[in-house]
Amino acid sequence: ASRQAAGIPGITPTEEKDGNLPDIVNSGSLHEFLVNLHERYGPVVSFWFGRRLVVSLGTVDVLKQHINPNKTSDPFETMLKSLLRYQSGGGNVSENQMRKKLCENGVTNSLKSNFAFLLKLSEELLDKWLSYPETQHVPLSQHMLGFAMKSVTQMVMGSTFENDQEVIRFQKNHGTVWSEIGKGFLDGSLDKNTTRKKQYEDALMQLESVLRNIIKERKGRNFSQHIFIDSLVKGNLNDQQILEDSMIFSLASCIITAKLCTWAICFLTTSEEVQKNLYEEINQVFGNGPITPEKIEQLRYCQHVLCETVRTAKLTPVSAQLQDIEGKIDQFIIPRETLVLYALGVVLQDPNTWPSPHKFDPDRFDDELVMKTFSSLGFSGTQECPELRFAYMVTTVLLSVLVKRLHLLSVEGQVIETKYELVTSSREEAWITVSKRY
Ligand SMILES: *[C@@H]1O[C@H](CO)[C@@H](O)[C@H](O)[C@H]1NC(C)=O
Ligand SMILES: *[C@@H]1O[C@H](CO)[C@@H](O)[C@H](O)[C@H]1NC(C)=O
Ligand SMILES: *[C@@H]1O[C@H](CO)[C@@H](O)[C@H](O)[C@H]1NC(C)=O
Ligand SMILES: *[C@@H]1O[C@H](CO)[C@@H](O)[C@H](O)[C@H]1NC(C)=O
Repeated sequence: ASRQAAGIPGITPTEEKDGNLPDIVNSGSLHEFLVNLHERYGPVVSFWFGRRLVVSLGTVDVLKQHINPNKTSDPFETMLKSLLRYQSGGGNVSENQMRKKLCENGVTNSLKSNFAFLLKLSEELLDKWLSYPETQHVPLSQHMLGFAMKSVTQMVMGSTFENDQEVIRFQKNHGTVWSEIGKGFLDGSLDKNTTRKKQYEDALMQLESVLRNIIKERKGRNFSQHIFIDSLVKGNLNDQQILEDSMIFSLASCIITAKLCTWAICFLTTSEEVQKNLYEEINQVFGNGPITPEKIEQLRYCQHVLCETVRTAKLTPVSAQLQDIEGKIDQFIIPRETLVLYALGVVLQDPNTWPSPHKFDPDRFDDELVMKTFSSLGFSGTQECPELRFAYMVTTVLLSVLVKRLHLLSVEGQVIETKYELVTSSREEAWITVSKRY
């Protein structure tokens, strides 16, 4: 308690060594801990990760004071890099700018080059669901994870993943690494269990080794299929930078895509009206014609459905920045090197910014100002993180294919409980049923 929190409201460490980690564990998740802390102490709060002072920002207003549009490092990626203990890219602005541009090109080009493949995978899933009797319960999260793993691995890392065994191996290692960086580091439990730590390190090493081989293979050669990694390889980056950027992207885009698809379909099953509107838009835009990238751009209502999905699910509830020079928010001084959390999950359910925040209402994004606020948080527009842009596109294609032919229905009596990690998911399987439109 002798440690000073620079006058920022908040809590003192409950333990000398662990700081407030035990409080976070007791809250169930970092997000739930932050909800509570902001309720008690206001928009700017402080607490302790171990011996380190952390400041969390919990309203649009204070976040806008902190988000520097000139800063090129994405706060979600920054957080993942630090959790993976990756070192490169520490603040050199021109280098960060170049890496960001390469990632953006990678997203654009891999989507363009693989659009037909993405459509094919979506149609395979549709055929599978069309073959089910109407009473059959479909394990949505599991199917979406499978779909995301298959599509993302090939679009990011290429033809190695035409082999299903490679996808399964990747999924297993991905699961190990992702669950540990989401939980094991934050609550300090990974360092206390050598078995888990070894499993984590082995999985990470295997993923890195797969990526290294692919990077080597793609270097200095041209392929007809453009994958995400090609854009990094063709840029002026060293091997370690390519490895780190492709690792972050492949880890995060798989899970963000899987969860965005899952939540979007979940919300559609519980909101008949929204599903009907989406169906009408899809019919109006595509008619009986093919699904093309140009037409996909015209799906404005679908875009609002996905934004509202990200908001209602609080898809990525927390991101982070390191305070590089001393800063000020409201009357509070934020010391240099403070870890600053963006409590996005708190902000996305703030009733002062989003009237009836728990209602799933895509129409709220008809208002330009609302969309602008959402963009300023990094969920849309120019500040959007590349993984999310990628996920929006994949989900849009999938929804276009599914909603055109199927009614997506909820299973009566099912209560979906939420698990807040780096990316928000349902605690247990989310079941749905489907019925044919024709
Ligand atoms: C961003 O960059 C512009 C132009 O270089 C500069 O005028 C402005 O002060 C910067 N904004 C912040 C918040 O650093
Ligand atoms: C930033 O990084 C680039 C590329 O790695 C390098 O050429 C340049 O000298 C660096 N600039 C600064 C200011 O460190
Ligand atoms: C360490 O982790 C392993 C694997 O998850 C688990 O089986 C074991 O019980 C853990 N050991 C301790 C001491 O918590
Ligand atoms: C790859 O394609 C580029 C542009 O089309 C060309 O300039 C380059 O020579 C090609 N490289 C190889 C190894 O074929």
